[in-house]
Amino acid sequence: MRQPLVAGNWKMNGSTESIKHLLDGIKRSLDVVSKAEVVVCPPYVYLSGVQAQLAGTAISLGSQNVSEYKAGAYTGEISTSMLLDLQCRYAIVGHSERRSIYGEKDVQVAAKFAAVRAAGIKPVLCVGEVLEEREQGVTEDVVARQLDAVIALEGVEALADGVIAYEPVWAIGTGKTASPEQAQDVHAFIRNRIARLSAVTAEKVQILYGGSVKGANAPELFSMPDIDGGLIGGASLDADEFISICQAAV
Ligand code: 13P
Repeated sequence: MRQPLVAGNWKMNGSTESIKHLLDGIKRSLDVVSKAEVVVCPPYVYLSGVQAQLAGTAISLGSQNVSEYKAGAYTGEISTSMLLDLQCRYAIVGHSERRSIYGEKDVQVAAKFAAVRAAGIKPVLCVGEVLEEREQGVTEDVVARQLDAVIALEGVEALADGVIAYEPVWAIGTGKTASPEQAQDVHAFIRNRIARLSAVTAEKVQILYGGSVKGANAPELFSMPDIDGGLIGGASLDADEFISICQAAV
């Protein structure tokens, strides 16, 4: 049985004050969040403060990105050892916004996955197609290419040390959620592709869905057999909404 996981990707949002308010709200309701592992991924500058506020709770800390390099002259970058220092358990790699706005390529994302894994942090590997690709019917090709880059570098078993997040880019921040069936189809495709190489890894790896998940649509999405939780953007900035998504992960 795979444990459900719900991660909030706060993206470039928040302030010291708003984050305190958000975390207070989440922590207040945490006792009713039972089955899912809950993760929050604040902007880098707030990691340390959030870590302190999470002390003694069951909520884990994650980063939104990380450098593939160890240390040195990489201005503006953050290393895996810095994330470890702040007790990050998770690091998102290859988010579609990193790929599309900052030009991260599959090879670089795979290198980030490897660096995170080597540090003993769980990489959350994001994959997903843009609208044009879905309309052209190449969703599976795109997702396979993104996944295969990591498999080529690290081997298929490495995927079990991390988490995969399927985020159709056309569903991110648009209010257009993939239907549970559309999401399930791609999740099953991902799991089957992994299973061809390692059935054990395929059975183990958690595959999250991301893209306009809300309290209202989470129960149906999370009831799908290959959807093991969610990577939540906008709705993770609202404590009540986030908690109701976490409650849907059973
Ligand atoms: P939204 O939930 O705002 O659509 O964002 C999804 C996402 O990109 C999470 O990483």
